[in-house]
Amino acid sequence: MNDEIKKLREALAASPDNQYLLKILLDTLIKYEFWDDLQSECLNLLSQDPNDQNGRIGLARSYFGKKEYSTAIVILEELLNQDPENIEALTLLCYVQINENNAHEAVETFHKIKALKPDFQDSTIENKLVVDPLEKSDEEEEPSLSDEIEDQLFGKKDIIKFKDVGGMELEKEQIELKIIHPLKHASLYKSYGKKIGGGILFYGPPGCGKTYLSKATAGEIDSEFISVGIDEILDMYIGQSEKKLNMLFEKARAISPCVLFFDEIDALGANRNDLRTSGGRNLINQFLAELDGINSDNDGILVIGATNAPWHLDSAFRRPGRFDRLIFVQPPSTESRIEIFKLTLAKKPTESIDYQKLAKLSEGFSGADIYACIDVAVEAKLQEAIKKGKPSPLATKDVISAIKSARPSTKEWFQTAKNYAVYANDSGIYDEILAYLKIKK
Ligand SMILES: Nc1ncnc2c1ncn2[C@@H]1O[C@H](COP(=O)(O)OP(=O)(O)O)[C@@H](O)[C@H]1O
Ligand SMILES: [Mg+2]
Repeated sequence: MNDEIKKLREALAASPDNQYLLKILLDTLIKYEFWDDLQSECLNLLSQDPNDQNGRIGLARSYFGKKEYSTAIVILEELLNQDPENIEALTLLCYVQINENNAHEAVETFHKIKALKPDFQDSTIENKLVVDPLEKSDEEEEPSLSDEIEDQLFGKKDIIKFKDVGGMELEKEQIELKIIHPLKHASLYKSYGKKIGGGILFYGPPGCGKTYLSKATAGEIDSEFISVGIDEILDMYIGQSEKKLNMLFEKARAISPCVLFFDEIDALGANRNDLRTSGGRNLINQFLAELDGINSDNDGILVIGATNAPWHLDSAFRRPGRFDRLIFVQPPSTESRIEIFKLTLAKKPTESIDYQKLAKLSEGFSGADIYACIDVAVEAKLQEAIKKGKPSPLATKDVISAIKSARPSTKEWFQTAKNYAVYANDSGIYDEILAYLKIKK
C-alpha cells in the first residue's frame, strides 16, 4: 500500500469525523487509480449512511474509473433524483456521457451545470463539447499556439510592476532572489557554475496574487515572458497537446533568456484519471521531458508554475532540477492589507480612511476578497446616492460594513492545506504552511 494513503488512513482512524481528511483520502485513491480501494471505502461509508454524498459520488467514480459506465450512471441518476443540483454528480455524469459518446446528453448535462453555476469551468468537457464537438473528434488538425500567446510574444501589453502589487514583501523578496537576480546577472551566475533555469512553483490559497504577482514579475524583468494557461495546451486530440507543449518550449528556447509561466499547472495532472488516462500521462511525461531539456538545451529558460493545489501535482514534478524551488504566496499580512486597501481606494472619492482599522477587520481576506469588498461598498454608495439624489464620498464605515458582509475566502483552503501539511509533508514541502499556521513539526 502506498505510503501517502497509509498515513491518511492512520490519520483518519485517529480522527474519524474529519470530513476534510476523508475527502483527501478519497481524492488520493482517485489520484492513484486505486478503484477497488475507493470502492470498498465508499461502500463502508454507505453502510453507515446510505445517503452519504461522498460515498455515493466516490462509488460512481470508482465504476467510472473501471469503465463500467452503466453502473456509474445508475448511481449518479439515483443521487441526482434526490439532489438534482449536485454539481459534482452532474460533472461526473457529463464525463460518463462523453466517454459513452452520448454527445447529445453530455451537452444537455453541461448546459444544466452552466445554468446552475455560470462560472463553471472544466477544460476537458469544454474542449470536448464546445471547442471540438464530438462528431469531429477523428479529424486531424495541426495544433497552433493561440493568438493570445503569439501576442504576448510580440508585444507586451498591460504591463504591471511590483508597485502595483500591494504589500507581499516576503514574496517579492523571494522573487528578486530566485528569479530576477539570476536572469539579470546571468554571466555572473554562470561563472560560479550556477545554471539559470529550472522551475519555481508559486502555491497558496486562491485570490492571493499568484497570477498577479507573476505578471508583475514579468514587468520587472527585461527578458521575455510567455504566460500560458494549461487550458491553452490541453487538447483532446491524442498527441496534439504534447506537440503544442513542445512548440511552446521551442519558442522559449529560441528567445531565451525567457520566463515561461504556466498558470493552474495542477490541471495537467488533476484530471488525468477522468477522461484521458493514457493521454494525461503522456502529457505529463512530455512536460517533464521538456523541463529536463532532454533533447535540447534549456539554459536561460526559467519555468514558473502556479497552483492552488500543489498536492494534486504529480510528485515527479518536484524532483531536483524541476520545480525544486517553492514560493508560498500567503494571504496578505495586516501591513499588506493596508497597502491593498490603499491601492483599491486610490482612484475613488473617499473621506480620510482608517486603513489600520480596515486591515484589522479583514484578517484572512485575500487580495481578491478585498477588491470584492470595495466593489460592494461602492455599489451601496451608488444606491444611496441615487436615493438621496446626491453623491457622497466613501467612508471607513462603508467599507467596514462591506467587510462584515463578506467571508474571508482563505480559511477553507487552509483546512485542506493543513491536513496535507500535517499528514503528507514528506520532503518538508509544506513546512511554510505549518509555519504560517504556527504548527510545530
Ligand atoms: N497584493 C495584491 N495587490 C493588489 N491586488 C491584488 C493583490 N492580491 C490579489 N490582488 C487582486 O486580486 C486578483 C486575484 O489575484 P490572482 O493573482 O488572480 O490570485 P491567484 O492567482 O492567487 O488565485 C488580482 O487580479 C488582483 O486584482
Ligand atoms: Mg491564478
